[in-house]
Amino acid sequence: MNEVMKSIITRRSIRSFQKKQVENEKLELVLHAATQAPNGMRQEPWHFTALQNPELLKKLDLLVAGEGKSFFYHAPTLILVSIEQGNRFAQADTACAMTNMMQAAHALGLGSVWCNRINGNNEIDTKLTEYGIPQGFQVTATLALGYAAEPLPEKLEHKVNTITYVR
Ligand SMILES: Cc1cc2nc3c(=O)[nH]c(=O)nc-3n(C[C@H](O)[C@H](O)[C@H](O)COP(=O)(O)O)c2cc1C
Repeated sequence: MNEVMKSIITRRSIRSFQKKQVENEKLELVLHAATQAPNGMRQEPWHFTALQNPELLKKLDLLVAGEGKSFFYHAPTLILVSIEQGNRFAQADTACAMTNMMQAAHALGLGSVWCNRINGNNEIDTKLTEYGIPQGFQVTATLALGYAAEPLPEKLEHKVNTITYVR
């Protein structure tokens, strides 16, 4: 099978991570993939913050998930996607960038999962200034990134009858 197709089909969300940090080279490639994503009217209204500082990661988890919990499954890297406030393609552009990053991560032997807890929470937004979110930007999604601690989960059963050909 075509390598790209194989990678798309075998990618799964990973929710258990090794402590081992992602190498800079791989992190840069994942972030580069994000910047290459399609986006509405070629505005590229995004910013990507790669958070690897263990203390700040812990502090963020405490703020979002509470004591003893982790909304990003204790991944060693969390990528925060933020978009210029008021951009009408915010959600679509976020999804394109996130998908590129998840596919790039998988192709590089990394695991990732989309974590949805921060976005849309205005109270948390106001507390994110120390996390490298540019002024006037709003977090729209986060990606937990690292090496999977367990084998890739089994492929999911997907819904059938979701495709119609009209010829
Ligand atoms: C918009 C969106 C939000 C998601 N939010 C979360 C989340 O907060 N936590 C989580 O563990 N997974 C989250 N996921 C991952 C989905 O649960 C996962 O993609 C889905 O179950 C299909 O599994 P797969 O990615 O392994 O194919 C999210 C995915 C998307 C696209």
